[in-house]
Amino acid sequence: MTEKTLVLVKPDGVKRGLIGEVISRFEKKGLKILALKMVKLDKSKGEEFYSVHKDKSFFKDLVEFITSGPIVAIILEGDSAISVVRLMIGSTDGRKAQPGTIRGDFALSIQDNVVHASDSPESFEREYKVLFKEEEIITY
Ligand code: CMP
Repeated sequence: MTEKTLVLVKPDGVKRGLIGEVISRFEKKGLKILALKMVKLDKSKGEEFYSVHKDKSFFKDLVEFITSGPIVAIILEGDSAISVVRLMIGSTDGRKAQPGTIRGDFALSIQDNVVHASDSPESFEREYKVLFKEEEIITY
């Protein structure tokens, strides 16, 4: 089934010059880019984006991290895009992520893990609205 998903290249990925590497992997896989932009989230947008984690011990650190520098937000479309992209990014903890995945190849931390991707259609619906207006999504 054709699905959309939201990917973020997080501040550590941008600082390390991994934007092209991340986008390139998704393009080569055959996923279609429907929207793409660089933004720097303010505190309230960061809290909104990660609101599902608001009761976690790491929430404050997570919001500080995601607002610490520019991020690149990408909407991708493709067959089973949500699970395919989750497989391609690997486990949350970079130390445990499989080699060949983005985190497995480029991360050694649970916080500085280069990318984020929606984990369900419901998450996508909530997350993309924090980053994009409807008219910024190009269907082609
Ligand atoms: P992400 O896929 O963006 O979703 C939530 C983020 O919280 C996750 O990636 C990690 O970057 C971060 N995270 C998850 N667990 C922890 C933790 N135990 N300590 C710090 N950050 C965490």
